[in-house]
Amino acid sequence: MAAQEPEPVEPADAQEARLPLAERRAEDAPGHWLLARLGKRVLRPGGLGLTRRLIARAGIAGADVVELAPGLGRTAVELIALEPRDYVGVEQDEDAAGWTRRAVGSAGRVVRADAAESGLPDASADVVVGEAMLTMQSDAAKRRIVAEAARLLRPGGRYAVHELGLHPDSLDPETKTDLRKQLARTIKVNARPLTVAEWTELLEDAGLRVEWTGLAPMALLQMRRNLADEGLRGTVRIIRNALRDADARRRVLAMRALFREHRDELRGVALVAVKPEQGSTPSRPNREEMP
Ligand SMILES: C[S@@+](CC[C@H](N)C(=O)[O-])C[C@H]1O[C@@H](n2cnc3c(N)ncnc32)[C@H](O)[C@@H]1O
Repeated sequence: MAAQEPEPVEPADAQEARLPLAERRAEDAPGHWLLARLGKRVLRPGGLGLTRRLIARAGIAGADVVELAPGLGRTAVELIALEPRDYVGVEQDEDAAGWTRRAVGSAGRVVRADAAESGLPDASADVVVGEAMLTMQSDAAKRRIVAEAARLLRPGGRYAVHELGLHPDSLDPETKTDLRKQLARTIKVNARPLTVAEWTELLEDAGLRVEWTGLAPMALLQMRRNLADEGLRGTVRIIRNALRDADARRRVLAMRALFREHRDELRGVALVAVKPEQGSTPSRPNREEMP
């Protein structure tokens, strides 16, 4: 059992709270919002375990924290529990922004904006966090968002990301392209995961220095991961909802089959990259193997 166990985000008025793209047919809904509709709240490849390893290294206590694309606010709850000085979420979807607002209450605020153009001041954050949001961007948009994170950080500040990874670094280009096509077809999101080396290069091209990398299996739809992320009650609720909705069930089974088929090539990957202070000497990056 994990040491800290913050309550999952389930606003008091959850019955009324509208989920993003709630009107979209199950056949066409982006995978993450379809899963959210079924009751899933942890919508990132390495699960809550990798999130906790990541934020433990980001130095949240007493920090000014900006979270890009907080979605339903599940990580926001974890961040607030670590007592940052300030929390600002930057979310482009109004319904999702509402979920995060309810999750953080008076401990922070959420602005509705594109993460590439947050409107927040330069050097206003000690930590920028972003999970499962860069993967779904084009290469150009990934670069814009990373540049925005670097702009928001003070020297010495940390950018903590958790995304979908490809393995190994030497994966051949045809397999990458084929996998991206299969993901787009099945998840209905233009997912463009990168290898650890490519994620590192993306962050370092923006002037950041990767100090820590962590990995986890891509087990988003495995029973064990769901019990760990959503608890027994949450998992039973997801299964019950899937049993009641044949279209959603078909989609979930297709996603699960794809993740399973490519479990050797897919990973949850997390990185902490630091904005160097002038004159600082780089330390050796710490790469953790998969647990
Ligand atoms: C897969 S969900 C992940 C949500 C949350 N970070 C988590 O891990 O549970 C992706 C989120 O990214 C948001 N998003 C995608 N592109 C964005 C952008 N350019 N600016 C702000 N939010 C964005 C979506 O609205 C959605 O809430």
